[in-house]
This record gives sequence, C-alpha cells and structure tokens, in this order.
Amino acid sequence: MKTYIVGNWKMNFTVGEASIYLHKLQKRLPNYRDVEVVVAAPSLSLQSLSLQIDRHKMKLGAQNAFYRDFGAFTGEISFEQLRGLVDYAIVGHSERRYIFGEDDKTIQKKVAASVRNKITPILCIGETESERAFGETADVIRDQLTGGLADVSEEDIEKVIIAYEPVWAISSTKAAKLASPDDVSDAVKLIRDSLADIYGKKTAENIAVLFGGSVNPSNAGAYLTVPGVSGLLIGGASLILGEFADIIDTAKRVRA
Ligand code: PGA
Repeated sequence: MKTYIVGNWKMNFTVGEASIYLHKLQKRLPNYRDVEVVVAAPSLSLQSLSLQIDRHKMKLGAQNAFYRDFGAFTGEISFEQLRGLVDYAIVGHSERRYIFGEDDKTIQKKVAASVRNKITPILCIGETESERAFGETADVIRDQLTGGLADVSEEDIEKVIIAYEPVWAISSTKAAKLASPDDVSDAVKLIRDSLADIYGKKTAENIAVLFGGSVNPSNAGAYLTVPGVSGLLIGGASLILGEFADIIDTAKRVRA
C-alpha cells in the first residue's frame, strides 16, 4: 500500500501564496512513487492550483464540500463541481463537526457524494478530550466510522481513506497533547477491526488509515512506523514548506 502524506492547509494562504508554496514544494520534491502527497487547499485556490500542479509529484484535495450536486445552497460548493479539480476531499474534520455542527448523518452523505463523484474521501474520526476522559474513545470511533461509512458499499470501500485524528491532539486545540504511538496503535487497531467486521478482513487490510494530530518532522517517523498506519494528515506543519517536505522525505525513508 502507498504511504499518504496529506497537508491540510485549513483557512490559510491567499491564492497567490498558495501558488508560490506549490511552486516551491514541487521544485523541492523528487518524484516519490510510493508516497502519495496531497495538499488540501482552500476552495478558492483549487482552480488555479489544478492548472499548476504536477500530478506525478502530488495531488490536490478539498477540505470540505456539500453533498448535493447542484441547487439552491447558497455559499456551498459540491463534489460534482470539484470533480476533475481534486482527487481527494477531507470529510468530517473535527473543525467541521464542532465549529460548523456537522453530524454523522451529514458526513455520511458527504462521503457518499465524494465517492459518487470519483473523489477519494478522507473521512476524519476521533474523540474529544472529554470523551477520552469518560472512557468513550472506542464507542466514538466506532460510531463515527460506521456512521460515516453507512452508504459505502463493499465495492467502494477501498476508495475511502480513514484518518484518525484525536481532537485533543490537534495543534489548534487548547492545551493540545501529543498522542503516544500506543494511543495511535490502539485506535488504528480498533478502526481496522471495525472495518473488518463490516467489510471482511481481507478488504479491511487494503483500506488506508492515516493518523493526524500535531505531526511534525520530529515525530512523523514514530507515527509512520506504528503498525496499521498508512500515512499522516498534517495541519500546522504543512504550512511550513521545509517541515512538510521533511515529513515527506521521512515517509520515503522509513517506509521504503
Ligand atoms: P495539526 O492539524 O497537524 O495542526 O494538529 C491536523 C488537522 O487538524 O488535520
């Protein structure tokens, strides 16, 4: 399986800044065939970046989209409209869940719309700090996973990527803590077991499961060597070109 390194720029970079970043990153990176590098840029930049991107080196992702294809949904962008521009879309990021109120039902429809439009969804799941404190981690992971995937058939599941992002480890969360490799290992095992329950063991082994939460060049190697982890989803460090590129180099090195 490929290793995925996904940068989530969130609401950062103007169109011009995004273009300069991409230009420099493409110059800095060799073509690592077995590392799939994705930049999830703000919607506004996707059109211009899609003309500029060298798809041999990296792919584009959206950070969000609405589940209906067209219609009276002021301010929204659909997966149908993103078709051809991006190869990936982050769905159900915790900032979408907790700042914008997206529930599992909405996320389920978005995952389905993404698959329908041939865009690989990166479904984000993960417990909050208080859910963890109450011992609810496993339930939350299972509920968000089965909820998000409710409309995904066995035939389509290998086109979906799962990202485990414990909310308490995301760098923008107040008093964020680092997840230990053991925390990640436990969660990823649970995710893979749940996927095996739904889709069968063989299929579950082919599904990419990423980790995200304060990943940086010094801890990336440790997370990438946790059994069952297929790659990383990176927020803050993806905004710093040198750090993001170092993480990509690390992925190439530790997983070659
Ligand atoms: P972080 O963000 O790497 O800054 O913790 C990860 C994310 O929110 O996807």
